[in-house]
Amino acid sequence: MTDAHPDGERLQKVLARAGFGSRRLCEELIAEERVTVNGEIAVLGRRVDVEHDHVAVDGAEVGVRPGLVHYLLNKPAGVVTTASDPQGRPTVVQLVPDEPRVFPVGRLDADTEGLLLLTNDGDLAHRLTHPSFGVEKEYLAEVTGEPSRATVRRLREGVELDDGRTAPARASLLAPSLLRITIHEGRNRQVRRMCEAVGHPVVRLVRTRIGPLGDRTLAPGRWRALTTDEVRALERAATPSGPGDTGQ
Ligand code: URA
Repeated sequence: MTDAHPDGERLQKVLARAGFGSRRLCEELIAEERVTVNGEIAVLGRRVDVEHDHVAVDGAEVGVRPGLVHYLLNKPAGVVTTASDPQGRPTVVQLVPDEPRVFPVGRLDADTEGLLLLTNDGDLAHRLTHPSFGVEKEYLAEVTGEPSRATVRRLREGVELDDGRTAPARASLLAPSLLRITIHEGRNRQVRRMCEAVGHPVVRLVRTRIGPLGDRTLAPGRWRALTTDEVRALERAATPSGPGDTGQ
């Protein structure tokens, strides 16, 4: 079936726009049977409805709707992760362009700093935040006191919180009061509560990585658009058991 959507766009054109190289190269991807539409291997000449069809390359879903934007923001402390704040505090959406309208993917506490993704790509946002996809988030936590090796092991193995035990995490001590913690759940104030539960409340918390995405050069309060390769890496990370799955 090559014209499931006779008015749709040709698949190679859609793939080329999504950053997979020239139309010619995209035709080769299709001929090599590496492209699926709604789970079925696509054939040359296939047309797709970019608003509804799910296109994947090598098993990883591809964002094909035109007009999708993906921003990476380095959120400063004191800015809230909502579209509007009844208390009138500054919000993350005020730090990125107004048009097209974007929304934050997941949330950082007002007092947490670091990397936050904003997009109008609802499908990707859903997959990045859904616990079943287990996308890793890495944090640097400056804590009170000096956690022992046994304490770090507890963080790694899981700690009991009032909403249940945390899943195994990665945790290491970078300096006497500085922990690197990588989790793949997304519970409310999870890192703060984990550190508190082991007797070392957080003084400062910074998110340094979201799945494959990091950026050490983005200044606090600044944003940049993701590159096509970064969007693709995120798509892979948010595809169950995909080749780019960074789950533990
Ligand atoms: N864990 C927290 O405690 N706070 C955040 O903002 C993110 C993760």
